[in-house]
Amino acid sequence: MLTVDNIDVYRGETHVLHKVSLQVGHGEIVALIGANGAGKTTALRTVSGLLRPSSGRILYTPEKGKETIEISTVAPERIVGAGISQCPEGRGVFSRLTVKENLLIGAYLRSDKGVEKDLESIYKMFPILEERSGQAAGKLSGGEQMMLALGRSLMGRPKLLILDEPSLGLAPLVIDTIFDMLKRINAQGVTVLIVEQNAVMALALSHRAYVLETGRVVLSGPSAELADTPRVRQAYLGGE
Ligand SMILES: Nc1ncnc2c1ncn2[C@@H]1O[C@H](COP(=O)(O)OP(=O)(O)OP(=O)(O)O)[C@@H](O)[C@H]1O
Ligand SMILES: [Mg+2]
Repeated sequence: MLTVDNIDVYRGETHVLHKVSLQVGHGEIVALIGANGAGKTTALRTVSGLLRPSSGRILYTPEKGKETIEISTVAPERIVGAGISQCPEGRGVFSRLTVKENLLIGAYLRSDKGVEKDLESIYKMFPILEERSGQAAGKLSGGEQMMLALGRSLMGRPKLLILDEPSLGLAPLVIDTIFDMLKRINAQGVTVLIVEQNAVMALALSHRAYVLETGRVVLSGPSAELADTPRVRQAYLGGE
């Protein structure tokens, strides 16, 4: 579905990503883990078209058997339109707008008639968002804002949902709820690419994972296997 092929990315003068390659298959949950400053956000922003690779390319096939497009040269809004939606680092909710307005922003590229119905199904998934639909989003707790950010992404009916550190700053119980939701969303056919510093949670959730260190992919494989490798246990799981 998504093939990141040997990309180099600079931010200003800094060479952040070095020949990074990764793949996400239809229906998978893929995690990208790594320490602070490894380049995780940079990788996601490049997939979304907000940053451009200086070399390499990114290919996207929205549905099996459909045409593959090279998205590394395509405008960000067209990438969203093609079904890739990103829940950004820090959630990015518009705090002065209401919860409902935030959700509707997620559907701004859609012209179909299903928006009301999807709003209802988001409310069903996150009843708190319906209760708070008329309130300013800035009044929500961190966990509720995460649900709102997730709901907003889903309003765009993504085929590939990208999340940047959804667990950041949230209490363990709230993180469990969010990760359960992600499992359910994936079971409904949405492919997921998730970036996390919380490697324990990310490896438990995902089918496969990549480890990024100072801008390079140093390990990859099935998440259960990675969780068992000494390097990952030592560096990311706090183990021996
Ligand atoms: N706007 C920017 N201009 C220049 N360098 C930047 C910019 N943003 C990030 N960097 C640098 O790029 C590198 C990777 O940053 P990035 O935000 O992608 O890492 P990350 O893995 O997401 O880290 P974190 O876990 O802190 O979110 C860092 O060295 C950072 O200093
Ligand atoms: Mg980051």
